[in-house]
Formats: sequence, C-alpha cells, structure tokens
Amino acid sequence: MKRKVLGMVLATSMVAATLVGCGGGDAAPAATSEPAAEAPAAEEAPAAEAPAAEEAPAADAAAPSGNKVGVAMPTKDLQRWNQDGSNMQAELEAAGYEVDLQYASNDVATQVSQIENMINGGCSVLVIASIDGESLTTVLEGAKSKNIPVIAYDRLIKNTDAISYYATFDNYKVGQTQGQYIVDALDLDNAEGPFNMEITGGSPDDNNATFFYNGAVDVLKPYMDAGKIVVPSGQIDFATVGTPAWATETAQARMENILSSNYSDGTQLDICLCSNDSTALGVENALAANYTGEYPIVTGQDCDIANVKNMIDGKQSMSVFKDTRTLASQVVKMVGQILQGETVEVNDTTTYDNGTGVIPSYLCEPVFADVNNYKELLIDSGYYTEADLQ
Ligand code: GAL
Repeated sequence: MKRKVLGMVLATSMVAATLVGCGGGDAAPAATSEPAAEAPAAEEAPAAEAPAAEEAPAADAAAPSGNKVGVAMPTKDLQRWNQDGSNMQAELEAAGYEVDLQYASNDVATQVSQIENMINGGCSVLVIASIDGESLTTVLEGAKSKNIPVIAYDRLIKNTDAISYYATFDNYKVGQTQGQYIVDALDLDNAEGPFNMEITGGSPDDNNATFFYNGAVDVLKPYMDAGKIVVPSGQIDFATVGTPAWATETAQARMENILSSNYSDGTQLDICLCSNDSTALGVENALAANYTGEYPIVTGQDCDIANVKNMIDGKQSMSVFKDTRTLASQVVKMVGQILQGETVEVNDTTTYDNGTGVIPSYLCEPVFADVNNYKELLIDSGYYTEADLQ
C-alpha cells in the first residue's frame, strides 16, 4: 500500500532527480579518523527466517516521529564501508539527526540483532547495507509493523516488502565499464586474439555481484563467442567464479590454483576480470607469487587505497570509482525527504525487483578510473590526499 502511494509521486521525483544529479556538490569530505571498534558478534544463533509475508504493509501504526536514524553497515574489513558509514554519520549529524551507526563484522546474526536494536531503540528510519540480501526478511517485519521506513543502501535487500527505497550506483554499468575497458585496451574489434582471460566474481549472497558479472560478460560475450577471448580454466559461470564475502584471501587461493593448473607451463594470461578491488587484490597477490609472464589487464571497483597504489605501480589496470560521499549525500537527502513527508527523489523504477515488487531506486553514476585520471578524480576532489597513496 505504501508503495502505491510512493508510485504516485515517482513521475515528479524522477524529473527532480534528473535536474539535481546525484548527491549535489556538497559532499562531506572522506573521514580520516580511526573507525570505531566493531560491535561484538551476537551470541545467539540467528532466528529462523519466516517466509516473506504476503499481506500489504500495515498502514495504521503511526510512523515514529523522532530524529534518530539507524545505519547498519556490513563490515569494517573493506575500506569503502568505513567511508560510507562515516560520511553518512557526519552528514546526518550535520543535518541535525541522531545516528546509531553499527558495523556487523560480515556476520549475519550480528547484523540482525543490530537492526532489532535499532527498531526497538527508537530509530525513525533505517539505512541498511546488508551482508546477505536474503537474510533480513524476519527482522524487517518488525520495522514494517512499526512503520519505520527502510532504505536499502548500495545492496538490494530481497524478499521483504519492508523496503521503501534503494540507493546505489548503477551496478550493471559498473560491470559494463570493466568489460568495455578490456575491449578498448586489447582493441578487440581489430585484434585477432585469442586472449586468455580468467574471471573473479563477487559474493553470491550480494545481489550486486550478478549485476557486475552480467554487465561485464554481456560486453565481452561477443568476443568470447568469436573465439577472441578464451578462458583456459573453463570457469565462466557466475556460480563457479564467485568469491564468498568478497574475501581477498579466497580470491587469491582460487587464482593460485588456476595459475598452477593452467599457466605454469608459460601460457600467457592476458585478462583478469575482477568484480571489485578486494578480489582484484587477491588476484594481484597470486600473480606476484606465481606468474612470471607478461602482466595481464586487471580490473577492479571501489578505488580502495591499496588498489590505487597498485594502479600507480602498474599492477592493476583500472578501477571503477564509486564516490561514497555522493551516495551518502543522496541517502541523507532521502532520509530528510522521508521524515519531512516530502517527495523522495528516485531515478529508476524498473530495474530492481526484490521479489515483492520493484523498489523505487536512486542510481548514482559510477566513473571509470585509471592511472591517467586518478589524480583528478581522487586527489583533486579531496577523496584522498597524496599522502594516502604513498
Ligand atoms: C558490493 C559493493 C562494492 C564492493 C563489494 C564488496 O556490494 O557494491 O562496491 O565494495 O560489495 O564489499
């Protein structure tokens, strides 16, 4: 029911969104302070998931009217989530909101209990970057029953109608950008090939991972079909190339196996399509230890500091820059619009169906980054200092 009402305002909001772009130019600077300690993992086992409710969301309970915003982030292990969390906290506080920011050490049970605490602790809006997009159905029943709106942050939360909005980057475009980089770098329209490629995907429980994979593979498929790109390991399907929890060590161990089984005889590896920077880092570590041929193209995403350093050193070819300040600003704007009963800006109402219907979304633009433009993108914009990258 809530979504029907939201739907009526979408047309106006989409126009508004086109006019304002993503996040405006008033982003807070990237936080440089030490992240706060991780909350301890919850001791209890996670509650069993109930099947997704079929009823429409209750509309009678009054929405909380306070100004506390719960922000649930997946982990501090990856640099980007630290920046997302601190940018959002800074901007929300500057806008006069109280913030309950929690990190869950990539542990689903911890995230569930943190969200429960936010619901019971008086939060008026929840912003959640999920660990496992399919594990929050039960806990979010609580948010729905208290009419607490939920914004899915960066990763779509599936199988629950408690989600009001989704804010992310254009995930399919992230993959396309990686694929197109490979096409251009190897001049695949003119080159004969064949070029050898290995694929390292993202975490299977993260809805984004398939968008990244499909975006890249859709661009590369014609060249694979034409035999210009081959995959010597034979590992191509998303199910085979995924990296649970996006873990660097897992990506590294898998690439070490691939290298010893397929490249130890001197076979040239030309392309490592990696979905993000944490997996690219694992692949780069494996290459450093186990590969002596001409260095391949390596793709990534996030412009994490370690990867930008590798880009400068020639060990990673590109990354996709997703300015976490921009996404945080957009979400802070959404929170304000929700709490003030204003039209919430979205710019996509077709792409992200979470299993209960399409979630009105705001997609920010990902940007291509490499050694030639990183200074302008990352340093001139204040995202990093020169010293961060030394
Ligand atoms: C994705 C996110 C990426 C990357 C990855 C690993 O959901 O969109 O930017 O950070 O998770 O955390």
